[in-house]
Amino acid sequence: MPKDSKRSGFYAMSDHIIPHSRPTLTDPDSHAVSSVLESGQIAQGPKVHEFEKQFSSYIGKKDAAATSSGTAALHLALLALGVKDKDEVIVPSFVCTAVLNAVLYTRANPVVVDIDPETYNISVDSVRKAVTKHTKAVIVPHMFGCPAEIEKLSELGIPIIEDCAQAVGSDYKGQKAGSFGILSVFSFYSTKVLTTGEGGMVVSDSEELVSRVRDLREYDSKDDYAVRFNYKMTDFQAALGLNQLSHLEEFLDKRRMIADQYFSEFKGCGFLLPVRKKGREHIYYRFVVKTEDDASLFLERLQKKGVMCQRPVFVPLHVCLSLSGFSHTMEAWQKTVSIPLYPSLKEEEIEKIIAVVREIF
Ligand SMILES: Cc1ncc(COP(=O)(O)O)c(C=O)c1O
Repeated sequence: MPKDSKRSGFYAMSDHIIPHSRPTLTDPDSHAVSSVLESGQIAQGPKVHEFEKQFSSYIGKKDAAATSSGTAALHLALLALGVKDKDEVIVPSFVCTAVLNAVLYTRANPVVVDIDPETYNISVDSVRKAVTKHTKAVIVPHMFGCPAEIEKLSELGIPIIEDCAQAVGSDYKGQKAGSFGILSVFSFYSTKVLTTGEGGMVVSDSEELVSRVRDLREYDSKDDYAVRFNYKMTDFQAALGLNQLSHLEEFLDKRRMIADQYFSEFKGCGFLLPVRKKGREHIYYRFVVKTEDDASLFLERLQKKGVMCQRPVFVPLHVCLSLSGFSHTMEAWQKTVSIPLYPSLKEEEIEKIIAVVREIF
């Protein structure tokens, strides 16, 4: 089993088991990558520059800097804002540990808060209560593709880093996720809506902040010495990203189409369906349902029937930090199940997922 196989869900790739995630890769993706390999210009270069340009324009921001991962993008976004030792950064508990890691890399204190039980996004009230004079930023992930309460959060007056790792293409009242924060970050990991294998992006209207990210992502050929990183994207990854970006709207349409099918076929099943909020365009990066009991029994049964489902968050951040409370996060952690939904699902796979889920629930 490959090292990251648990995370990617690829270990379930066999004839009779439907994996939890699978990227959508086509011949033009392969051609784009191989033409870069043939050119010999494989490190960060013109393709990365082009990907940054097209991506920032897609989100509607002035500038962007590509990175080696979403975690690197978060780390550099925090550094660009000047976050350091003893500063506080507010983060939700119900999110992957990459968010916690990025804060800890800067030596700032993570202030973990609870979530909104309906959308699983960071709770605006909890953020309001957590603000102190040391607060430097709040990281707002749009969980599973559903935009967070970004307008209300913006009213709090704290710098927002939007984490769009799971939400590329979603929008809030007609405005793209990623266009609200002072800085916004994206991930292009292999399970993501748009992939470069591994990769990330920081976007902003502030060219100054983006140029800080650009400076920090590479250490070589600098006139002064400062601790810098090697967080660059390669040109063959960017070539893949460019081709994926050109198909993004198709990917999103397919996701919404499958989600519509699930909404109608899962009516009456013994679980809560994802909420659809007016003015918030969900992209269904994950189709997360909430069961009445602990999810583990269902996960096991679904797997036995050949459908790999997952808990959508492996371990909440407050659990990693041994904090207590967080009732909404605990309930979501224990009771939610993510059902496979991605554009490369074949018609017969969708039918099988629907049949198995209906049988088990
Ligand atoms: C909300 C969120 N933020 C950040 C990340 C980190 O991205 P990466 O895996 O590219 O480092 C992820 C990854 O899954 C994520 O889901």
